[in-house]
Amino acid sequence: MPTFDVYVTPPEDPHWPVPATGAARFDWEYDDGRDRLLALYQKGKDKQWDGAKRIDWDLEVDPHDPLGTPDEALALYGTKYWAKLTDKDRAELRRHYASWQFSQFLHGEQGAMICAARIVESVPDLDAKFYSATQTMDEARHAEIYGRFLHEKIGLLYPINDNLQSLLGDTLRDSRWDMPYLGMQVLIEGLALAAFGMIRDSTNKPLPKQILAYVMQDEARHVAFGRMALRDYYKQLTDAELREREEFVIEGCYLMRDRLRGVEVLENFGVPAAEAAEYSEHTEFLAVFRKLLFSRIVPCVKDIGLWGKRLQQAYVDMGVLELGDSNLDLLMSQDEEIAEKLDAERFAAEERERVAEVTEAIERGAES
Ligand SMILES: [Fe+2]
Ligand SMILES: [Fe+2]
Repeated sequence: MPTFDVYVTPPEDPHWPVPATGAARFDWEYDDGRDRLLALYQKGKDKQWDGAKRIDWDLEVDPHDPLGTPDEALALYGTKYWAKLTDKDRAELRRHYASWQFSQFLHGEQGAMICAARIVESVPDLDAKFYSATQTMDEARHAEIYGRFLHEKIGLLYPINDNLQSLLGDTLRDSRWDMPYLGMQVLIEGLALAAFGMIRDSTNKPLPKQILAYVMQDEARHVAFGRMALRDYYKQLTDAELREREEFVIEGCYLMRDRLRGVEVLENFGVPAAEAAEYSEHTEFLAVFRKLLFSRIVPCVKDIGLWGKRLQQAYVDMGVLELGDSNLDLLMSQDEEIAEKLDAERFAAEERERVAEVTEAIERGAES
């Protein structure tokens, strides 16, 4: 079904052209790749998977509660508007929230694909180009999967959030080759990864759990790449150049914290914008969620060497500074283990089913 038939409010234009700046670069040295980058490239090739086969699309999803979201997690809960909603309205609200969330994931994955392709083009060294080519494919598969989930299981899509779009645009328009990494791989992907993780670990619905666990398995490589490439590069930059990057990070973090809350969902339910923003700000559940959203960004930023005074102060203001000490390597290896464990459990369950069928067939045979 055409997406334009299921958008809550369709975008004005079916395409969004972002003018490209900066150079495409060839590298004529084919034989001096860095071992760690080449190992990541190899891993990228080895770990490709097909969402059409690995994910059990036959699993049913209730479009009105795709994630098993508790009432308290909805920003309207406990407000005067909540009291007025019928059960049917509340179910619809849940569907809209899930649709908004997964739609932002979907648009973000398309952005990640385009940024990864941009990196293939602009990064100077061939080893990084090779790796980024595998990531481009990863992101294409992710976009395909989120798109399928939204079309087939929720039946409703939201357009890209204005602020996410402007951050993506800034990231892509910048001619410095490291900016797509920083904006996309560190900020946007860091935020997305934290959101994926919270849903993966809290949902009791098997299909979204599979999707998120498998997507996160790939994202662990993407974060590793961003860290590796930027850590090397930022060691060579002047203080002034580093401060510019830090300003970009500070602005991006505030923007994502304050402006990516799904206020547009509440507006669709007749809540005026100012009130909608207020509710999203003050819901206790969302406040915890917002803080956790930084669990992947803060340690990564610290790790790549953007840890000046102003940035630290901004994180103190947001109440997330201490997240800088969390262990990213551990988080990422856990992401990979969770996906592998899920595979093992599903395989074991299928095996049990198969054995039961065979046993049953034998018993039937013995009876006749
Ligand atoms: Fe992705
Ligand atoms: Fe990614």
